[in-house]
Amino acid sequence: MIRRCRDKDAGSIYNIINEAAKAYEGVIEADCYHQPYMPEEELEREMKRVTFYGWEVNGELVGIMGIEPIKNVTLIRHAYVLPQYQNQGIGRRLLDYLKRNTTTPSLLVGTWAAAHRAIAFYRKHGFNLLPDKDRLLAEYWDIPPRQIETSVVMGIENNKD
Ligand SMILES: CC(C)(COP(=O)(O)OP(=O)(O)OC[C@H]1O[C@@H](n2cnc3c(N)ncnc32)[C@H](O)[C@@H]1OP(=O)(O)O)[C@@H](O)C(=O)NCCC(=O)NCCS
Repeated sequence: MIRRCRDKDAGSIYNIINEAAKAYEGVIEADCYHQPYMPEEELEREMKRVTFYGWEVNGELVGIMGIEPIKNVTLIRHAYVLPQYQNQGIGRRLLDYLKRNTTTPSLLVGTWAAAHRAIAFYRKHGFNLLPDKDRLLAEYWDIPPRQIETSVVMGIENNKD
């Protein structure tokens, strides 16, 4: 049910990200929220650097999660499940899969400081909030200053043999 996404999946990934990101409306700072949350050109750029994996139901992608290895860490990027499929364990399965298939000693994920449910999701899966988030966001991410200010970084040691 989990498969690697390809260029031809761009339309489905676009739909999943922008539908799932509606959960941020009224939660994150108003100036950080817009629709589409990720415009096509931005997704096109992201697909060049991020490897996406997806969860399929009846041949249709309903959830996606990406990895971007940088230096000695792997970033979890763009974790989104269509609203009607959330809370059914799809995010957990995708995250477990990526954790198992990552060889770097640690994984990092960045999310909005106000996105408490997303933070709870990662915490439940062993990620902890890291104190040096400004340095990490500047070193491993390519995001604007306002996003650095309003984001947190969570990390986990990858204990795979
Ligand atoms: C976060 C997300 C990818 C998790 O996928 P999922 O398939 O719903 O997750 P699972 O079913 O494996 O786990 C459920 C947990 O996810 C979290 N969750 C559920 N719905 C959520 C939502 N709308 N937004 C954020 N987190 C959510 C909760 O921690 C939930 O645990 P709980 O039942 O104890 O409250 C998915 O809910 C989503 O797309 N949320 C909106 C966008 C988002 O916050 N993405 C993270 C960007 S880094």
